[in-house]
Amino acid sequence: MRLRNVRGANEIIEKSKYVINNYFDYKGNFSSLFDNGNPIHIEVGMGKGDFIIGMALSNPNINFIGIEKFDSVLVRAVQKLEDMDIPNLRLIRMDALNIDSVFSKEVSCLYLNFSDPWPKERHSKRRLTSDVFLAKYDLIFKDMCLVVMKTDNRKLFEYSIMSFNNYGYTIDDISLDLYHDDLTGNVQTEYEKKFVANGDIIYRISVHK
Ligand SMILES: C[S@@+](CC[C@H](N)C(=O)[O-])C[C@H]1O[C@@H](n2cnc3c(N)ncnc32)[C@H](O)[C@@H]1O
Repeated sequence: MRLRNVRGANEIIEKSKYVINNYFDYKGNFSSLFDNGNPIHIEVGMGKGDFIIGMALSNPNINFIGIEKFDSVLVRAVQKLEDMDIPNLRLIRMDALNIDSVFSKEVSCLYLNFSDPWPKERHSKRRLTSDVFLAKYDLIFKDMCLVVMKTDNRKLFEYSIMSFNNYGYTIDDISLDLYHDDLTGNVQTEYEKKFVANGDIIYRISVHK
């Protein structure tokens, strides 16, 4: 992701009604933010927000929280939301490395869309499907652990399948070419739009344990 500084990003983010700034206060109690007991789904590395906004609009009975590490990216999602009213959506600026310090036994589904592949072996633990992250995800799921991943990166996809398998996950659904399979309910991300326009193959997997 190319990062350009956005003037005033920090202030725009802090003032947005969608952004949870005091997120540590809600650990184990994020439902109270939404005033209902609907399931909570999280997108890790939500980028500029197209996926999580689209998902929240088409699934009003699910609460969505998008997590993004960088101000300069998150602010783009916040700007898209300026004139929208989506009660089942919140955003958090944070590093997913801290995900288990922020959430506790309250998440029903995690989405990992076009996550950074970290191609060098010495960086493999930084991949969002490494055992480092899978161990953290274990602590935030309510009952069943459910992860849905899309990527254009074949090596990351293969690595993730192995990693899920080694961690006790079962594959529910897998596509080796999403755009030639069943696209029902697919909501595109910003990266996905670019890759599809480029004719790249999109891989998708959903797993549970
Ligand atoms: C390649 S982009 C994909 C963005 C978006 N999911 C999409 O498909 O268009 C990866 C995004 O994940 C974010 N990211 C990477 N590592 C992260 C982490 N540890 N915690 C939170 N966000 C992270 C990056 O800042 C970037 O916005």
